[in-house]
Amino acid sequence: MKSYNVAVIGGDGTGPEVVREAQKVLDAAAAKHGFKLEYTEFDFGGDRYLRTNEVLPDSAVDELRKFPAILLGAIGHPDVRPGILEKGILLRLRFELEQYINLRPVKLYDDRFCPLKNKKPEDIDFVVVRENNEGLYTGAGGFVFKGTPHEVAVQESVNTRRGVERCLRFAFEYTRKRKKENTLTLSGKTNVLTYAFDLWERAFHEIGQAEYPDIKREYAHVDATTMWFIKNPEWYDVIVTDNMFGDIITDLGAMIQGGMGIAAGGNINPNGTSMFEPIGGSAPKYTGKNVINPLAAICSGQMMLEILGENQAANDIEQAVIKVVRERIKELGAGKMGHSTSEVGDMVAELV
Ligand code: IPM
Ligand code: MN
Repeated sequence: MKSYNVAVIGGDGTGPEVVREAQKVLDAAAAKHGFKLEYTEFDFGGDRYLRTNEVLPDSAVDELRKFPAILLGAIGHPDVRPGILEKGILLRLRFELEQYINLRPVKLYDDRFCPLKNKKPEDIDFVVVRENNEGLYTGAGGFVFKGTPHEVAVQESVNTRRGVERCLRFAFEYTRKRKKENTLTLSGKTNVLTYAFDLWERAFHEIGQAEYPDIKREYAHVDATTMWFIKNPEWYDVIVTDNMFGDIITDLGAMIQGGMGIAAGGNINPNGTSMFEPIGGSAPKYTGKNVINPLAAICSGQMMLEILGENQAANDIEQAVIKVVRERIKELGAGKMGHSTSEVGDMVAELV
């Protein structure tokens, strides 16, 4: 029987609870479609850091590199200063495993959960391809005269031709495979960031013209993009953008698809180890209460199966999630579902 090795990092807060439900659903889909998932658990996160003072052991990255996929719950602990775990675990893995794409679908499953007036599932169905290894996230920059009245802080956006091109090619390919409107929109800020987005825009049109003439190219400033997300989300098919803008617009995207309880994402290295995570955080105040919505983690598992090439199993999970969202759940928020975390997992698994 075909089998896949999957690393599991439950992480902090409610992360382990939602990942458990994702595994439950994945196992059901695997059993149905004749393959197996072999899980190896890793305890990286805030608790381990507080216990050992080590964020990520040096051997961890090389060990994780051996897996085709990682399932991640959440990173972020109330007793650890912000930035330490995020940079030391999440960003380090994204960078060192060269997960240069952050793929974030924005798909509304039921109009009851959309905060926008008169928007239906067919209106909100697009994908954001966020560059995931460069931009403002590299840590380039520094302080001068720190702690004095003259202090200067510079945070630089790094955009390499290679990094931008590989992200754009992925986005063009993805748009072609998606076969919806065959339209790729570059979201940027060419009117102000005249170096960074000059490079992006030139590469976008050069690659598009030479290699993807079948894909229509659009451009929108990022501020306008947020406006269209609210006003006319139906205009979008696939959006490609840099790391920081992608971070910001996908939180807005999560809200219009029903909130953090449903928003899934994948950190993709098309030739290596990819990592799948719900977009929402560790929600410490709900830890252990069995009330958080596991659907985002379940949908991240679905994305994992797509990347592993198990498309039918992935599709079964999506159909089951749609049914649960439309017919069984009262609200998508934590504690408001009308069911516990594990009950929601059970329902999806059963339908699969
Ligand atoms: C996300 C998160 C992370 C990011 C944080 C936790 C570092 O907001 O995955 O969107 O900024 O990328
Ligand atoms: Mn974010």
